[in-house]
Amino acid sequence: MNQKEIITFEDHCRMAGFLADFVATQINGLPPSQFLNIALSGGSTPKTIFEQIRLQHREQTDWHRIRFFQVDERCVPPDDPQSNYRMIMENLLDGLDFPDDQFIRMRGEEDPQEEAQRYGQLMKEILPSDGEWPVFDLILLGLGNDGHTASLFPGNDGILRTLQWCEVAHHPGSGQARITVTLPVINHAHHILFLVTGKEKAEIVSDVIRQKEGLSLPASLVNPASGKITWLISKEAALLIS
Ligand code: 6PG
Repeated sequence: MNQKEIITFEDHCRMAGFLADFVATQINGLPPSQFLNIALSGGSTPKTIFEQIRLQHREQTDWHRIRFFQVDERCVPPDDPQSNYRMIMENLLDGLDFPDDQFIRMRGEEDPQEEAQRYGQLMKEILPSDGEWPVFDLILLGLGNDGHTASLFPGNDGILRTLQWCEVAHHPGSGQARITVTLPVINHAHHILFLVTGKEKAEIVSDVIRQKEGLSLPASLVNPASGKITWLISKEAALLIS
């Protein structure tokens, strides 16, 4: 039985403060030699929250106890303005002297199929497993206006059903190739946190949370096998949620 929690916030800064505190609490609960394994998404909401953490809340957390992975990456070089890796380094980790070997980067510059294979193998080697699936301590997800999350887009049934840990997807609008972790990996995390802000997301977040019938929205398929799911939503994005 998974546990679903919805927390609304007045603004980005409060959401960022909550997230920094939440991560710090997770770290404090770990054995001293253990890393917290967190997978991060891209997008403008994660970017805004990461920047707020860097500017206002970074001292609350011992970042060197964390090993970062990526939920997804655009198939571009790491210095490309569209790169999620670049966004995370600039907005969250800039100035932290963060150890390279604690950031398990998706190599957007490589052949997509080969990189999806490599990254899946890396997760297998580095992450604890529940016997079949890798287990992240925490996965941060955004929510697209079309109900996508990670790079799991509506209509791409093959990727929504795959038993691979990492796949190549294509953005439905631009056709851009992406590397993405898959639903089973997301659903086997100890804790899934959605970050949703903006009044333009009010309808989609309501549809997803209510698991509106007849809508095969990828984000609606995020249901933790045994972990927890927490929705961090700005007040304006939560307008339609009773
Ligand atoms: C990406 C993300 C994607 C994003 C959502 C929400 O690489 O773009 O991983 O899943 O999190 O599209 O993005 P916004 O917050 O910008 O709407």
